[in-house]
Amino acid sequence: MPQLVRFGVSLEKDLLLHFDTHLKGKKYTNRSEAIRDLIREDLVKKQWEEGKEIAGTITVIYDHHKRELVNKLMDIQHDFGGIIISTQHIHLDHHNCLEIIAVRGNPCKAQELSDSLKAVRWVKHATLSMSSTGKDI
Ligand code: NI
Repeated sequence: MPQLVRFGVSLEKDLLLHFDTHLKGKKYTNRSEAIRDLIREDLVKKQWEEGKEIAGTITVIYDHHKRELVNKLMDIQHDFGGIIISTQHIHLDHHNCLEIIAVRGNPCKAQELSDSLKAVRWVKHATLSMSSTGKDI
């Protein structure tokens, strides 16, 4: 179990009031958990910026009736096989598919993969969720 350390933080009263209001909206029950999350968010951002090993997901929405699009998405994923650890395909309705691609490795490669998928014609929406392997956060 990690050792907990207490430390004091000084900040403007108004800022703290805004923060507490924000926390209530975000369902936090105490400041400590909210501050831990803010710190971790910043550390994860740093891991992406510094090229450390990261993890994340790319979500893609497309119409599978566009056959060339499906082949193109498949080709791109094969080109990035080293970073893709899992994919899940969900048939949302008669036309639309949702694909979740889990990635782990170099953040530049993950961004490149996401950009490549997003840029394909007929892809309706694509997002990259930048997360962490859980190490050092
Ligand atoms: Ni489908």
